[in-house]
Amino acid sequence: MTAAPTARITAVQEDIVRLRLDDAQNGRLVKNEVIYIVPARAPDQRLKAEVLRVESDEADAQVFESTGGVGLGDRVEQSGRLLSVKLGPGLLGRVYDGLQNPLEALAVGHGVFLPRGVEAPGLDPAVKWSFTATRRSGDKVRGGDAIGTVPEGPITHKIMVPFDLDDTFEITWIRDGAVTVDEPVARLKAASGAEREIRLAQDWPVREPLPRRIIRAGFSQRRFPDSPMITKQRIVDVFFPIAQGGAACIPGPFGAGKTVLLNLIARHSDVDVVVLVACGERAGEVVETITEFPRLKDPRTGGSLMDRTVIICNTSSMPVASREASIYTGIAIGEYYRQMGLRTLVIADSTSRWAQAMRETSGRLEEIPGEEAFPAYLDSSIKSVYERAGVVETNDGSVGALTIIGSVSPAGGNFEEPVTQSTLAAVTCFLGLSYDRAYKRFYPAIDPLLSWSRYRGQLAAWTAKNLAPDWTERVDAMTALLQRGDEVARMEQVTGEEGISLEDFVAAEAARFLDMVFLQQDAFDDIDQAAPIERQQAMFDRVHHLATRRYAFADKEAARQHFTKLAGLFKNLNYAAPGSGDEARLIADLEALDKSAP
Ligand SMILES: Nc1ncnc2c1ncn2[C@@H]1O[C@H](COP(=O)(O)OP(=O)(O)OP(=O)(O)O)[C@@H](O)[C@H]1O
Ligand SMILES: [Mg+2]
Repeated sequence: MTAAPTARITAVQEDIVRLRLDDAQNGRLVKNEVIYIVPARAPDQRLKAEVLRVESDEADAQVFESTGGVGLGDRVEQSGRLLSVKLGPGLLGRVYDGLQNPLEALAVGHGVFLPRGVEAPGLDPAVKWSFTATRRSGDKVRGGDAIGTVPEGPITHKIMVPFDLDDTFEITWIRDGAVTVDEPVARLKAASGAEREIRLAQDWPVREPLPRRIIRAGFSQRRFPDSPMITKQRIVDVFFPIAQGGAACIPGPFGAGKTVLLNLIARHSDVDVVVLVACGERAGEVVETITEFPRLKDPRTGGSLMDRTVIICNTSSMPVASREASIYTGIAIGEYYRQMGLRTLVIADSTSRWAQAMRETSGRLEEIPGEEAFPAYLDSSIKSVYERAGVVETNDGSVGALTIIGSVSPAGGNFEEPVTQSTLAAVTCFLGLSYDRAYKRFYPAIDPLLSWSRYRGQLAAWTAKNLAPDWTERVDAMTALLQRGDEVARMEQVTGEEGISLEDFVAAEAARFLDMVFLQQDAFDDIDQAAPIERQQAMFDRVHHLATRRYAFADKEAARQHFTKLAGLFKNLNYAAPGSGDEARLIADLEALDKSAP
């Protein structure tokens, strides 16, 4: 769809261009509208750009391509659309760039990344999907109502009435059968007489929360997050839980294990769909992700994890605007699957690269800079991302969740910098990785004294009902024990071991035991890397008992020896297959050892 040109380029600065309408009386420029530049020197190319700032008949736009060869006077076509993502069956298993260009398809012809001016359809136009209508002609439907389904890999994909329709329509025609994403499957008519065709695919502007209008119209409702997303990582699920529909961040210094932890969470969490937004420094990192993920096994189905994953990739070598857009593209896809009543997880690794893209663009627009040259709206941009997490009761009463977890990579591991600080203000769970713990190989290197999760309190009703009535109090008690262990260790550094009381010494040993056998978890062991919640519950009960029962050791050496033996047995227990003979034997040994302690 080529439109007639309506504007001209008046200035070019790197990937920012200025344009002016030919006809200021009748034309109109709109913020976030997608435009295409047709370079006079390469008239067969159309370079995609997005309007960022409008000043009467002039605008600044960011170009999603290299602007080499773009000159003053080049023609500009307006698309009349906002930057959008194409939603429909066929998203799962795909790898896209920030503008939903499928990378594998393009890679075959062009190497991993795209040549300039090439756009490919986000959903394969040739594939036929088997559509089963669930509504009939004459039925009344509203925006977001499902009118049929299509099987897509492991999920039943609901085909929904476009989300911009906040009105009631009558179905005048609907069909079953094998169709492509662009063929009509139904026709709707409004009371006003307006008609609309429904296809398997629909477009959505990525910067607008997808359910906004149907929530405003009362068709769908936001719900309070009240159940946990079980990650199978003990330190997360027990100490710093993340709610289904929650927002969490993982800041950490270079190499502290952010990517490894996020990949574990992507693989083992109890969610239906994962969207991974990989914002890398180097192309190599991203290529690693693209090649590694399809090789990962889905622990639930035994198939490839890719079957329920969408990857959005970008690197510093890609145009800055495409990097900036990628996070919104990923979230819109997550929101779409949430609207089917599914549990979705969007992971952004790392959001610092995304914030840097924002900073570059803001610099080129010569906006008034805030702290460390980030734009003054850094805070609100970060908030607008994490705010899109949440639980939604959809039109048909099913409940979907979108959980967002972003990593942050502050230079030098300094959490005081603006991106980390703005992120901390926007999330409800903070998993801070520490250099010290990573250096000691205490993985996952989440610092238990620094991290927090307000979901610990918000999920108290769930844990009381499903784990134990006094769960939250005992977790708080174990957190206090870690704190005390840390204080004793500091004191010991000053006074030496002789300077601390036996009671303090035992507390410090108990804290260390808790750390070694419960907080730390081996990502490279098949059993230990994923602890089901029932197992975590049983282990926590044991650890809590062993760390809080009264001891009457004769001296510090006796205490040290006892906790060392306990830790040895417990670690092996973590590695033992649930229900195995090994497990039973280790539990018996542990209980005997505990009985023998004074
Ligand atoms: N849970 C873990 N168990 C064992 N080793 C780990 C674990 N997490 C991280 N590592 C080790 O640390 C290395 C770096 O981890 P990772 O790439 O996840 O760090 P990062 O914080 O993402 O780094 P960057 O800042 O470069 O993105 C890994 O290659 C691995 O050797
Ligand atoms: Mg990383």
